[in-house]
Amino acid sequence: MDSRFVRPQILLARLHFELPVVQATSTARDGDDTKTGTKKLFKLPGTLKLRKKDTTVVFVAGATGNVGSRTVKELVKSGLRVRAGVRSIDKAESILGVSISYHVYDQLEIIDCDLEKPEEIESALGNSGVVICAIGASEKEVLDVTGPYRIDYEATKNLIAAAKNAEVKHFILVTSLGTTKFGLPASVLNLFWGVLIWKAKAEKALIDSGLAYTIVRPGGMERPTDAFKETHNLRLAPKDTFTGGQVSRLQVAELLACIANNLELAEDKILEAIAETSAPLRSLEDLLIEIPSQKKVEKDEPKKKVVEAIQVDTPPIISSRPLSPYPR
Ligand SMILES: NC(=O)c1ccc[n+]([C@@H]2O[C@H](COP(=O)([O-])OP(=O)(O)OC[C@H]3O[C@@H](n4cnc5c(N)ncnc54)[C@H](OP(=O)(O)O)[C@@H]3O)[C@@H](O)[C@H]2O)c1
Repeated sequence: MDSRFVRPQILLARLHFELPVVQATSTARDGDDTKTGTKKLFKLPGTLKLRKKDTTVVFVAGATGNVGSRTVKELVKSGLRVRAGVRSIDKAESILGVSISYHVYDQLEIIDCDLEKPEEIESALGNSGVVICAIGASEKEVLDVTGPYRIDYEATKNLIAAAKNAEVKHFILVTSLGTTKFGLPASVLNLFWGVLIWKAKAEKALIDSGLAYTIVRPGGMERPTDAFKETHNLRLAPKDTFTGGQVSRLQVAELLACIANNLELAEDKILEAIAETSAPLRSLEDLLIEIPSQKKVEKDEPKKKVVEAIQVDTPPIISSRPLSPYPR
């Protein structure tokens, strides 16, 4: 067996089975598919050519995180296959293993991938047609002034570039309220070494990439537990609506899984997510439909400006005949 592809035995739910672990490495190159221009094609054992992207396969970056781990579980529950991108296989096994039951064994692969190492990423994506990025500089990095720059911006940008190069079909990025609108309390987050500024730059890199995208900006997630949704229903709004509000990590994970299952409903949308006791209980799909696509907003905006410009610059038309087609 190729030593690059390790399959450690682990004990889950008192049952022995193997959780597939793939070491993402750029040396796993397919002999037939060496370089095509600047692009490299790689092949992992048991997979087809990685260029064939499958939107039922979702790569989750940050799969050991609070949102990412819940997202992996929701995706698997919904029937999609997951490539869980992690920096530590041991951590992933203990976080994901305990709650992923053995019968979904073939739906989940754990992929060793550090997004600060760009050369690892494209092969880690494999045949994923969808990427969810839920990474973030952690509290451990609170004393590291470069943390948010390195992780929330550079590492995210590395993933966007690899996804673009790999011709991924849809990229879902988790950022935060307050990335492009100043307001309290969200803007206080910038005290963490300008984290919202770096997240805003990551959002821009994604939009500029030309990939189909969804950006999810959650409210505060520190306090709400998974039980939050029993008393607080999700509310979604277009970009730059909220500067405060809370939502649970589980609610965000459920939203991310819903997006992965309904890509067209969420294409080129920027969603802000909070949960409130006063919000009505509605399906996630219904909430998604109501958010305008940025493509449509951008297409409509210039037209509106032209109309306004015409109205401002054009001198009043003096006519002897009524302008209305209808006689007075
Ligand atoms: N907390 C809030 O109230 C709040 C509010 C709004 C938005 N957000 C944002 O929501 C996102 C998810 O939050 P969370 O609470 O789930 O964060 P989290 O628990 O800190 O998880 C962060 C994840 O990012 C991973 N990661 C960091 N650097 C990486 C790298 N170089 N390569 C690959 N993975 C890397 C971590 O991996 P390791 O396990 O290996 O460290 C971890 O899995 C973050 O962007 C956060 O800023 C948070």
